[in-house]
Amino acid sequence: MRLKKLLAAEAPQQNVEVRGWVRTLRASKEVCFIELNDGSCFASLQLVADRTVDNFAELAHIGTGACIKASGDLVDSPAKGQRWELHIKKLNVIGNADPSYPLQKKRHSFEYLRSIAHLRPRSNTFGAVFRLRNALSYAVHQFFQQRDFLYVHTPIITASDCEGAGELFRVTTLDPANPPKNNGSIDWQKDFFGARTGLTVSGQLQGELFATAFSDIYTFGPTFRAENSNTSRHASEFWMIEPEIAFANLGDDCQLAEDFLRYLVKYALEHCAEDLQFFNDRIEKGLLDKLTALADATFSTMTYTEAIEQLKNSGQNFEFPVEWGLDLQSEHERYLCEQVVNGPLFVTDYPKEIKAFYMRANEDGKTVAAMDLLVPRVGEIIGGSQREERLDVLTARMEELDMAPQSLDWYLDIRRWGSCPHAGFGLGFERLIMYLSGMENIRDVIPFPRTPGHAEF
Ligand code: 4AD
Ligand code: MG
Repeated sequence: MRLKKLLAAEAPQQNVEVRGWVRTLRASKEVCFIELNDGSCFASLQLVADRTVDNFAELAHIGTGACIKASGDLVDSPAKGQRWELHIKKLNVIGNADPSYPLQKKRHSFEYLRSIAHLRPRSNTFGAVFRLRNALSYAVHQFFQQRDFLYVHTPIITASDCEGAGELFRVTTLDPANPPKNNGSIDWQKDFFGARTGLTVSGQLQGELFATAFSDIYTFGPTFRAENSNTSRHASEFWMIEPEIAFANLGDDCQLAEDFLRYLVKYALEHCAEDLQFFNDRIEKGLLDKLTALADATFSTMTYTEAIEQLKNSGQNFEFPVEWGLDLQSEHERYLCEQVVNGPLFVTDYPKEIKAFYMRANEDGKTVAAMDLLVPRVGEIIGGSQREERLDVLTARMEELDMAPQSLDWYLDIRRWGSCPHAGFGLGFERLIMYLSGMENIRDVIPFPRTPGHAEF
């Protein structure tokens, strides 16, 4: 039986069998205590064996990390902090572990644990992180399915750089030592797909196509960015949730983002209480109060122009300059949501120069209908916009940016036939987990992080 179910038992039980991995073991001549964990919940089950167990003498040789199977009776535990313990009648070692097992009982740094990312899921912290991640994946689908959004699988291999930032990882089967050439440059027509392709940075463009057929859609998949920034909030491979809604403007988009985030917070509070309690005690003090308040709060909103004024009047000495037209840096984002509004903050209507080509032009000719949702500690967690649905305006903007409109003809087609106002956003799944757990490094909320210089495991 899985420990989660067993530990929730309402009455003692006879002859149950459990399997799992040994967290700790203490053995004396008369009795042996084992903490067993099977990953189904944060808590471990205490196993107690005495000399009546056949192979009692062998138990002292079981190492931390060993995999065992035990059966016996679930009885009230006299020990503090646990309701049940298992009195062993029979115990088998499935796979022993010798003392070189790297996760011996003591506090390990997250940095060290990253170097054993294949074993860290067996630790308390990473057990909690990956259970939270699992629960929230499910909640994402539940939120959208309840609202009749269509889940669409957008392609991983693509020929278009949605965000236009030049961060595509190349996908090719050409021989790097001897690529086919045409007039001195590489002839991509001879490549596998007959074009220059890469790994997607976002499923949005294809998502938009589906939104103009199914009205409300979402994607939830891996995205890749060859961005050489070594920060605690950037990964080269991360997961993104991207809803796209037809007949919607920027206000509707913000409303959806707010409802979505609140739903996820409530879901976590309801379904991951034990793991969140651990994060609250050991990772971020006050986390539970923060999340409980967030579940009912309305989010603040200010325009980019207002944000710049706030920052200029702040009297703070920022490392990066604050000037209308420059992008907000993490220190600015954090100041705004931590010091100015003390909670989540939508910043809207950014200068068009610092945002992607597809965002809808505002009347002022200078800004676009963009929104970023900023949260304390993490900064930007969501980026979205109303899309430019006017064919002539969009084509003109692409030309201004030296993008050949023909190269995205399929994208423009939905503006040619049956165009409609629509909007969407992307939520970085790892940043969400960071926010909900208090974990400070993106490398510690994804099973096997990919960052510049690192693709082990
Ligand atoms: O703001 P971004 O670049 O927006 C888009 O990609 C749009 N196409 C989304 C849309 O409108 N459908 O990325 C969206 C979010 C960010 O707010 C951030 O949370 C996350 O994705 N993100 C990253 N997370 C981890 N590592 C990175 N390198 C990330 N880059 C973006
Ligand atoms: Mg962004």
